[in-house]
Amino acid sequence: MASLSLSQIGGKNSVVELQMTPRPRFNLCKSRVGLRVSASEAKPEPDLSVTVNGLHMPNPFVIGSGPPGTNYTVMKKAFDEGWGAVIAKTVSLDAAKVINVTPRYARLRAGANGSAKGQIIGWENIELISDRPLETMLKEFKQLKEEYPDRILIASIMEEYDKAAWQELIDRVEQTGIDAIEINFSCPHGMPERKMGAAVGQDCTLLEEVCGWINAKATVPVWAKMTPNITDIAQPARVALRSGCEGISAINTIMSVMGINLTTLRPEPCVEGYSTPGGYSAKAVHPIALGKVMSIAQMMKSEFGDKGYSLSGIGGVETGGDAAEFILLGANTVQVCTGVMMHGYGVVKKLCSELKDFMRTHNFSSIEDFRGVSLQYFTTHTDLVQRQQEAIRQRKAIRQGLQSDKDWTGDGFVKETESMVSN
Ligand SMILES: Cc1cc2nc3c(=O)[nH]c(=O)nc-3n(C[C@H](O)[C@H](O)[C@H](O)COP(=O)(O)O)c2cc1C
Repeated sequence: MASLSLSQIGGKNSVVELQMTPRPRFNLCKSRVGLRVSASEAKPEPDLSVTVNGLHMPNPFVIGSGPPGTNYTVMKKAFDEGWGAVIAKTVSLDAAKVINVTPRYARLRAGANGSAKGQIIGWENIELISDRPLETMLKEFKQLKEEYPDRILIASIMEEYDKAAWQELIDRVEQTGIDAIEINFSCPHGMPERKMGAAVGQDCTLLEEVCGWINAKATVPVWAKMTPNITDIAQPARVALRSGCEGISAINTIMSVMGINLTTLRPEPCVEGYSTPGGYSAKAVHPIALGKVMSIAQMMKSEFGDKGYSLSGIGGVETGGDAAEFILLGANTVQVCTGVMMHGYGVVKKLCSELKDFMRTHNFSSIEDFRGVSLQYFTTHTDLVQRQQEAIRQRKAIRQGLQSDKDWTGDGFVKETESMVSN
C-alpha cells in the first residue's frame, strides 16, 4: 500500500503529499526550494548565465529566428542590449526562390469584439524564411562574430530534400564562425512542395534521413526546431536526438487562420483579396508551447537522461515569469521572437530583472537550481484520481478523531483535540 504523509491537515486546500510512485528528480537542489532569507543578509546576485552544449551565454534569453534576426544592424542591436544569444532569420542556399508578400501579419487583441484598444495577445504571420541573398547574410554573420567574438550567434538553416544542398549550406554557414546551427524543421507555411520546414518535421522517416545528413557534416552543435503542428511532438524530437542533434528547440508557430473580416468576408491577413493559413505566435500560444515543451522534456529525461542534450523553450514569452515557466519544465534557454517585435530589443533588461526577482523569491542562485523542478508534478489523470481519493480518505479519518487513547501524540495534541470538537 502507498505510504502517506500529511504536510498540512484540515481545510479544503490541504496539501496532501502522497508517496505512491517514485517521482523523478530533475536537477532539484532541495535545500534551496522555498527558503526565504532575511533582507539584512547580504546575498550575491542571482547568476543568470548558462552554458549550453559548451556555449556560454550571459543569460538564457535568446533572440528567436525571425524578423529580430534579419540583418547585421538588428543582430548587433540585440548583442548591445544584452541578449544571451541571437538566432538569425532562417537562410537557404537560393534566396531568389523566397518571395514574400505584404501585408504578412495579422494580430488578435483581447477584449470585446477584438477592440482596437485591446492588448495584443496573438500574432499570425505568413512570412517565409529570409529573402536576402545568402552571401549577404554570411558576410554579416562573419562581421558580427569578428566584432562580438565572445557572444553566441546561431545560424538557422533550411533546405530542400537534397543531401548535397544541406551539406553545402552547413559548410558555408560554418565558415563564418557561427557557434551553432538551428535547423528549421518547422516553418508551417510555404514551400511544403519542396519538402522544406514542417514538411520534414512532420515526417519522422524524412526527419531521420535529413538529420543524418546534417549531423554527418556539422562540426558545431545542432538544435532541431520542432513544429507543434503534429499529434505527438516528442516523436520527432526523439528522432532528432537519436540522429545526432545536440538540442531541441520548441515551438515554431501554430498553423492558424487569424480571422475573417466581417465586412469584406475576406480572411486576414488579406493580400489582393486572398489569404493563406499562417503561423500563430505571441502570448496566446504560451500555454500550448508549455505543454509541448513539457512532453519533450519528459521524453528527454526518461530516454536521454543527463547526457548534455539541451532544450530551448519558445512561445509567447514577454515576462521573466514566462521564461521561468519554461526553465521549470527543463528548458536551458528561452527564445523570444514576437515579444521583441512588440516591445523592442530593450525588453531583455526587463526579462532579466524579472527572472532575477523570481530567483530571489525562492533563493535560487543559478538557473540550474530550478531547471526542471516542476516536471515532477505532472502525472496521469488516473494517478490524480487515486491521490485525491486517498487525500479525502485521510481527511475523513482525521475528522473522525482518534480511534483510541493510545493514539494521542505530544506534537499533534492540539490538532488531535480539535479533530474531536463538534462546534
Ligand atoms: C514574423 C515571424 C517570422 C518568423 N520567421 C521564422 C524563421 O524564419 N525561422 C524560424 O525558425 N522561425 C520563425 N518564426 C517563429 C519564431 O521563431 C517562434 O518560433 C514563434 O514565433 C513562437 O515564438 P514567439 O511567440 O516568441 O514569437 C517566425 C515568427 C514570426 C512571428
